[in-house]
Amino acid sequence: MSFRPQPPAPARPNRCQLFGPGSRPALFEKMAASAADVINLDLEDSVAPHDKPQARRNIIQAINDIDWGRKHLSVRINGLDTPFWYRDVVEVLEESGDRIDQIMIPKVGCAADVYAVDALVTAIEAAKGRAKRIGLEVIIETAAGIAHVEEIAASSPRLQAMSLGAADFAASMGMQTTGIGGTQDNYYMLKDGARHWSDPWHWATAAIVAACRTHGVLPVDGPFGDFSDEEGFRAQARRAATLGMVGKWAIHPKQVALANEIFTPSPEQVAEAREILAAMQAAKAAGQGATVYKGRLVDIASIRQAEGIVRQAELAAI
Ligand code: COA
Ligand code: MG
Repeated sequence: MSFRPQPPAPARPNRCQLFGPGSRPALFEKMAASAADVINLDLEDSVAPHDKPQARRNIIQAINDIDWGRKHLSVRINGLDTPFWYRDVVEVLEESGDRIDQIMIPKVGCAADVYAVDALVTAIEAAKGRAKRIGLEVIIETAAGIAHVEEIAASSPRLQAMSLGAADFAASMGMQTTGIGGTQDNYYMLKDGARHWSDPWHWATAAIVAACRTHGVLPVDGPFGDFSDEEGFRAQARRAATLGMVGKWAIHPKQVALANEIFTPSPEQVAEAREILAAMQAAKAAGQGATVYKGRLVDIASIRQAEGIVRQAELAAI
């Protein structure tokens, strides 16, 4: 470990972020009743430009009136390249009570984008005497965002989470696909005439995880567009979980249980992690730093791996 220890990410479950358009208030009660850990009420791309003012009113009313239970409640504002974003922040934070937890900034391209929103949020909090400090989350979904991912992860003490937005990312990168996440037909290796599909999102996912882990931010996988393809969602989510992400978006209620399933360590995974911790405790008592568990090496690094899995399971049980 470097002299500077790795900061912990916020200690709250973030297995599933369920989105709903701010222009469809009929969905809000259903979102509140869902099993998602995080709710994202959207003012951005699921809301048509002429609907933005009404969507703000709907969201403010929903923040104030609906019982959101223990959910982490976030509002996605419009991008900083639009004329909408400042009114999103001002109206939502001036007119909603303390139930809102977080603001999500889409299409972040550099640390200064987060700085700008942080400055506005800070001024409104002070002016209105808001007691609860608002968190921020960002979406990495442009070439600039991924190129500057580390400075973005370090941009603000308010920053809690960072998601990969596959559709806008693909568009910004000029990727030849209209798919939103998952396997892409043309991204394969050829071996002895057989095709083996690899993961076009791998690099961006790993870059986001590394930036987030360096700065104590939660890394999250974004949308999977084909909500009829449950196995496709599971495969994408398993890859993201294997690379270190803590959760995934749901753009349809069908996907909530799938995300919770994949991002909650299974009882078998937790049992194995606890056995490894016990094996290492016994090794330590015998003065050893490494031992054999089920025919394979475990050592002091295995303690950190196993503790990570146990911690994920504990957070899911909160
Ligand atoms: N949250 C909660 N409930 C939702 C929901 C959501 N995001 N989307 C749909 N539902 C509800 C529907 O109201 C319906 O409820 P009912 O059984 O009581 O009638 C049920 O789930 C089935 O919905 P379905 O008919 O399959 O979907 P739809 O055609 O109404 O909507 C989408 C499909 C994709 C347009 C809608 O799910 C949606 O808007 N998703 C979020 C989009 C978004 O926010 N995008 C931005 C981030 S990428
Ligand atoms: Mg987007």
